This record gives sequence, structure tokens and C-alpha cells, in this order.
Amino acid sequence: MPTSKAVLLIGGPSKGTRFRPLSLDVPKPLFSVGGRPIIWHSLVALSHVEGLNEVLLVGFYDESVINPFVKEAARDFPNLNIRYLREFQSLGTAGGLYHYRDIISKGNPDQIFVLHSDIVCGWPLAELQKFHGTHRGVGTVMAVKVPREEVTKFGCIVIDPQTSQARHYVEKPEEPLSDSVNAGLYLFDAALLFSSIRDAMEAKVARSAEDPESSSDEQLRLEQDVLSPLASTGKLYAYQTTSPWVQIKSAASAIPANALILASYKTTNPSLLRRRSPTILAKSRADYSKKKGPEIVEPCFIHEDAQIDDTAKIGPNVSIGSGVKIGYGCRVKESIILDDTTLDKNSCVLYSIIGENCKIAPWARVEGAPLVGDKQSIAILGKDVSVLKEVHIRSCIVLPSKNLSRSAKNEVLL
Ligand code: GTP
Repeated sequence: MPTSKAVLLIGGPSKGTRFRPLSLDVPKPLFSVGGRPIIWHSLVALSHVEGLNEVLLVGFYDESVINPFVKEAARDFPNLNIRYLREFQSLGTAGGLYHYRDIISKGNPDQIFVLHSDIVCGWPLAELQKFHGTHRGVGTVMAVKVPREEVTKFGCIVIDPQTSQARHYVEKPEEPLSDSVNAGLYLFDAALLFSSIRDAMEAKVARSAEDPESSSDEQLRLEQDVLSPLASTGKLYAYQTTSPWVQIKSAASAIPANALILASYKTTNPSLLRRRSPTILAKSRADYSKKKGPEIVEPCFIHEDAQIDDTAKIGPNVSIGSGVKIGYGCRVKESIILDDTTLDKNSCVLYSIIGENCKIAPWARVEGAPLVGDKQSIAILGKDVSVLKEVHIRSCIVLPSKNLSRSAKNEVLL
């Protein structure tokens, strides 16, 4: 069994702008889906990889923002040594790896997993590792298929059907080259990864010496600067998976990500979930579904100290945070309700994300619309928003601390 380490690329405050207003209060990687921060779910998957005992979070957030999570994760995953390595500025998706190469390589791991922090998926890490062991390339990129019209938003990979070599890698091409794209999850041979990044670094320095305009920034990008050249030399392989996968870019994508995580709770070892969070399934299955009381349509995450009136109906695909109060006759479906929010009687929240400490008054309604194809319009309320009695908010983005006294549709309420 090879030894390995993992690097989670968590970015920094200048990243995740499309996730606003949800990233105004919490860094995107720590936003809660399925009742836990996005990156907590990747730690669950990594904690099951044999021969892996260290996970390094690399990003450029202030330590004070990330360290509380690291402390909590250390308790949740005692078999993993988890550390945060801060870049002094954004070094790019390969620059941070290279800057911290000595720490990452310490102990001579055979392999390095590299994970983007804005994806959730079925985490087929054992399958990825098995595939990686079948070739002698530098690395394996996990690839997923997306609709052809979506391809240009991703890193597009042309895969040799015989050898599984990634023949071409083009980040956000103008025209689709294939329907396989980079899923943001890689496994590299440790020594070869750093020599490939060094080559990319030298090539970049040479380019900027020739043409100072060409690459004046400090960033080194894993995708364009490292993977693209590797593909053209046949040293990059692609592991194509049909495992479910969601990339969290816009705030709206948190709704399908939440659903994906909740669906996986049915098969995840419930004792792991209960270890730190004695809530979830235990509560929704054993308590709620057997007695008369709120009707819970699974899957849902309901924090143990949320209060839900017996006449409310919740689910499917709902995550409810700590201190939330849901009153008489409320209906909540396909939504994330963050901590300390109150839904007063007969209010309704559908396809929405409700920020912390919001107040939804009686008979008010906050809703988005179901997913059609890959398009979804959701309603998002920032922190501390109040929606007054009988007001209907439909597919709006509402910035923090607003008092909504009139109904609105398809608006950004500043
Ligand atoms: P955009 O569409 O422009 O957002 O690009 P993308 O989808 O390819 O994502 P991007 O390459 O910006 O980021 C991929 C992952 O790397 C995300 O999890 C980011 O948080 C992370 N990331 C991006 N830039 C940096 C960086 O400079 N340093 C570190 N450590 N992480 C980064």
C-alpha cells in the first residue's frame, strides 16, 4: 500500500466572489452543506484512505479564520494530522504547492492527493488510487462528463480511449474539445509532481524574460502551467468517473451540493456522523419518523438543538442549523437554513438558502425554483434579514441586514 498525503487547496478571501453574499460572513470552503463545512466532507473521504495520515490545507486566508476549523477537524479525525499552511499572497493552484514542497514532501510520501475545496462528490479515492497504480505517469486527474454546452466553463480533457492518457488539457477552451472535464481531484507521484512544477516554474521565468508582458504575476497555475504541458508529453492520465459530482461556484450550486451530501448520508457510516454530531439520521429516523410530530421527508440534516413544531413538514434535502426555530404549519423543502434563524407560523421556504439569524414572519414565503436542466434559480437571504408578514420573496438575492416589507421577484436587494 503506497503512503500518501493530501493537499486541500482552499484559496483565499479574493476567491469565491460568485458565492456572495454567502461568502461575506464565512469563507466559502467553510460554508455549511449537509450540516458541515464543505471541506469537512472531503476530510471524511480522506480519513478512509489507507496509508494517508496527513492533510495540509493550503490557502491565503488569515490563520484566525481557518485555525478554529483545523482544531475542530483534528478532534473529528484523530487518524489525520491536519495543518493549515498560509500563502503570504495568492500563489496560484501550483504556486502554494511548490512554496510548501518541503513540508508536503516531509516523510517521503509516495503519492500526493490534491483536492479543490469547491467540489463535493462521491469521493472515489480508492478507485482513483487503484487506477493511478496501473500507469507510470506523473499524475491522474479525475474527470467527469458534463453537457457539451457547459464544457467551456471547465478544464477540458481529451482522453485517449485506449490508454486513458490525457492527450490535451485546455483550461476553459473557447470551443468544447470533448465532454470530459477536470473534476478538481488529482493523485500525483510525489517526487514527479514537484519536478513537474519546477519545470513549469522555469518555463514561466524563461517566458517572462523573453516577453515581460506575458506572465508578470506571481501565480503558478496547476491547470494551465503544469497539467497542460504534462498532457502534451503523455505523462498525465485521466480517471473517468460517473460518481456524482457538484462544483460549488455560485451560491445556487450549494443547493445541489447539499442534496448530494445528504443523499450520501444514507450510505455513510452513521457512527462517523454521530461521533461529533449526534443529530442527523438518529434524530430524523428514530425520533421524527416514528412519533407523531413534524413530517420529515428524508434525507435531511437537523441539528440537535433546532426546534421544529410538530405540525411542520421538512424535506427532502433540507439542512437545518443550530438554534433554528421552525413554527406551526411551516413548510421547508430543498433548502439550507443556517444557525439561529426563525421561521414563524405557516411560513414557507423552498429552494432557498437562509443566512444566520434571519426572521421569516407568519405566512411569508421565500422560494426559488426547481432545477431545470442545469439551471436553478434560488432565493438567498444574507445574514440578519427579516421578511415581514405575508411577504413573498421569489428568486431574489438579498444582502445582509435587510428588512423586507414588500414582495419581490428576480431582484438583487441591496
Ligand atoms: P474560476 O472559474 O476562475 O473560479 O476557476 P476554477 O474553477 O478553475 O477554480 P480555481 O482554479 O480558481 O480554484 C480551484 C481551487 O483552488 C479552489 O478550491 C480554490 O479555492 C483554490 N485556489 C485558487 N487559487 C488559489 C491560490 O492562489 N492558492 C491556493 N492555495 N488555492 C487556490
